[in-house]
Amino acid sequence: MRQLLPTPVDDIDPLAVYADAARSGRAGRPWVLANMVASVDGRAAVQGRTARLSAAADREVFMLLRTLADVVLVGAGTVRAERYGPVRGGGRPPVAVVSRSLDLDWTSPLFSEAARPTEILTCAAADPARRARAAEVAEVIVAGEEQVDIRQALAELGARGQEVVLCEGGPHLLGELVAADLVDELCFTLAPLLAGGAEPPLIVAPSLDPPRPLRMASLVEGDGALLARYVREADPA
Ligand SMILES: NC(=O)c1ccc[n+]([C@@H]2O[C@H](COP(=O)([O-])OP(=O)(O)OC[C@H]3O[C@@H](n4cnc5c(N)ncnc54)[C@H](OP(=O)(O)O)[C@@H]3O)[C@@H](O)[C@H]2O)c1
Repeated sequence: MRQLLPTPVDDIDPLAVYADAARSGRAGRPWVLANMVASVDGRAAVQGRTARLSAAADREVFMLLRTLADVVLVGAGTVRAERYGPVRGGGRPPVAVVSRSLDLDWTSPLFSEAARPTEILTCAAADPARRARAAEVAEVIVAGEEQVDIRQALAELGARGQEVVLCEGGPHLLGELVAADLVDELCFTLAPLLAGGAEPPLIVAPSLDPPRPLRMASLVEGDGALLARYVREADPA
């Protein structure tokens, strides 16, 4: 991998590019770092999965970011589509799944093989029988009434000492975080592919008025993909 911005560097150590002291030790809510990949035409999946978008460099950064996180936050749609398992490398942060339906495979390795219990972020309106089933294999956290209140959910993670939240999607969950203006950092890989189709875009969110300004912190190239790291612009004083 080579860095193109802020200064050109060949053969970078990805950790040097992605480590950022600003992420932890803040008061208030956790730092929200999102990591996503898309095709050049903006599709977040190919035939319902990300595998064909993600080459070696993107996979390496995907794994690296997990080592920098206290928890991996993911929507239930992604868990179902990607057959999510537990994090196996690095500090093995727990996975936190956002779901109202609780339509998840409770016998899967995500629950049976997790080094630290998988967390289920759900709402009071979730089906009680499914909630009881979830509680047998996971830590159930109720945040919100009819839907998960994403701000409250982050506060619950923060209260558990999870200060760096890595959101791995999908596009709907990330859209909620974006709409609530809760994304501090976005690691975005532009894969050198045209995907077409009816797959969702990178982020499904309502129209943002005004649009949220981001600053590009770094740009890396690997396997022909562009890996950009954006951080939110500081709020106006
Ligand atoms: N390109 C990438 O980087 C990337 C990353 C991840 C996923 N993907 C792709 O994106 C697709 C899946 O993404 P998606 O956008 O359809 O799904 P998603 O965002 O992963 O999950 C949506 C689901 O999360 C739950 N959810 C989200 N917000 C909620 C709230 N406020 N309250 C209660 N539940 C909430 C609901 O689950 P329930 O239905 O269980 O209630 C909802 O159906 C797959 O094709 C996957 O391959 C791409």
